[in-house]
Amino acid sequence: MPNTISGFSKLSKSEKIEWLLNTYFTDKDKARSLVQGYWNSDDKLQKLHDEFIENTITNYYLPLGVAPNFLINETTYTIPMAIEESSVIAAASKAAKFWLDRGGFKAKVLSTEKIGQVHFIYNGAYDKLKAFFEFVKPKLIKETASITKNMERRGGGVLDIELRNKSEDLPHYFQLHATFETLDAMGANFINSCLEQFATTFKTEALQFEYFNSEEQNITIVMSILSNYVPQCLVRAEVSCKIEDLKSKDIPNPETFAQKFEQAVRIAEVEPYRAVTHNKGIMNGIDAVVLATGNDFRAVEAGVHAYAAKDGRYTSLTHCSIEDGLFKFSIEIPLALGTVGGLTRLHPLVKFSMDLLQQPTAKNLMQIVAVAGLAQNFAAVKSLTTTGIQEGHMKMHLMNILNQFEATETEKTTLVTHFKTNVVTHSAVVEALTKLRGLD
Ligand code: MEV
Repeated sequence: MPNTISGFSKLSKSEKIEWLLNTYFTDKDKARSLVQGYWNSDDKLQKLHDEFIENTITNYYLPLGVAPNFLINETTYTIPMAIEESSVIAAASKAAKFWLDRGGFKAKVLSTEKIGQVHFIYNGAYDKLKAFFEFVKPKLIKETASITKNMERRGGGVLDIELRNKSEDLPHYFQLHATFETLDAMGANFINSCLEQFATTFKTEALQFEYFNSEEQNITIVMSILSNYVPQCLVRAEVSCKIEDLKSKDIPNPETFAQKFEQAVRIAEVEPYRAVTHNKGIMNGIDAVVLATGNDFRAVEAGVHAYAAKDGRYTSLTHCSIEDGLFKFSIEIPLALGTVGGLTRLHPLVKFSMDLLQQPTAKNLMQIVAVAGLAQNFAAVKSLTTTGIQEGHMKMHLMNILNQFEATETEKTTLVTHFKTNVVTHSAVVEALTKLRGLD
C-alpha cells in the first residue's frame, strides 16, 4: 500500500518528520521549517510537550486569553480561556462586566458523584447472580484497597456498587454500576483502575462456584470503563436582577429586552435545532475554560449534551424566568473536572491558569466553568435578540480577514478605524483594502 509505514512510532522525531515530508510534501523545506518553527526553543519544555502524546511532531497553538471582572459568590475572578473563535472572550468579558454591576453570579455545586460500570454477559438465573453479587460485594470493595487507600484518606473513594439487570435492553446483559467520590481529581484513572479490579475479583470469585463454572452460566466480562455521563455531578449558576436594572447603553428598554430574551430561551427549550446552537454558544465558554485548565473537554462535551437530552428531547441547558419584576437566568450542567492529576500539574500554562484562578478546588472550578457558560450564553442571546450576532462577530473577525490578506500594521490601523462606523462583511473588507492599496 502506498504511503503506509510500519514501526512509525519507533522512529525518532526527526525521522518521523522526514518521512512525512518525503511522502506528502513537494516543498519539503517550507513544510520542515513550518513544523520546526513551532518548536519551543526551550528543549526541556518541548520534550515535556512531546511526551504528552505519541508521534508528536510539533505544537499546535491556540490563543490563551482572559476574561476579567467575573464576580462569583462574592469573589472576583479573571478567567483563563483557550479558544480560537474571535468573539468569545470579548463576549464573556462584556457579560462579566454587565453582571458585575448587578450583583454578579451565584453558583452552587449540587452533587459530585462519578460513575463507572463493569459490563458483562451472563446466561444463568438472575436470583443466583443477585445472591452471588451480595456475597461478593464486600470483597469487590476490599480488593481495591491498594487503589483507594489515598483517595479514602482524603475523604473520597468507592461510594457504592449495584448489580443492574439490563437484559431487557440487550439479552443477557448485566452491569456492576459503581459510584465514586473523587474529590479534586477528575478521577478517570482512579475509577478505571477500580473497575478493572472489580471485574477481576468478580470473575475470579464466580469461578469458585460450580454454578458459574459451566459453559451456560459463565460470566463474561465485556469491558470496564467510567461513564462520562455524570448527571449526579451537577453545578448550578445563575444571575438575577430587577427588570429595570437591566437598563444599559445596549438595553434602552429593559422590559422589551427581558421578554424577548425569555422568549429566545423558551425557543431553545422546545426546538432542538435552536437548542443545539444555543448550547454550542454555552460550550464556547465552557470548553475554553476546561481546555485552559487542562481538563478533558471531550468528556465534558459528551456528558453535557447527554444531559441536555436526558428527558428524551434535546433542549436548552439554560433557563430564564420573569416573575414579579425579577429577571432570572440560570444554567444547570454536569461537569466532571479535576484540579489535581492529569495535565494540571504538568502543563506550565495549565499551572498558570490554576494560579490565576487562585488554586481552585474541583468544586470551585465547576462553579467557574458553569458561570463562563452562562455568561457566554447571556452575551450570545443578548446580541441575537438586539443587534444580531454579526455586528460584534464580524468586528472581532475583522483582524482575521486583514491577516488573511497580509495587511500591514498601517493598513490595519486605518481599516479598524474605518470599520468602527461601517458594517464589516468579508467583501466590504476586501473592497476597502483594495481601495486603500490603490488597486481598484
Ligand atoms: C457562535 O459560536 C455561537 C452562537 O451561534 C450561539 C447562539 O446562537 O446562541 C452565537
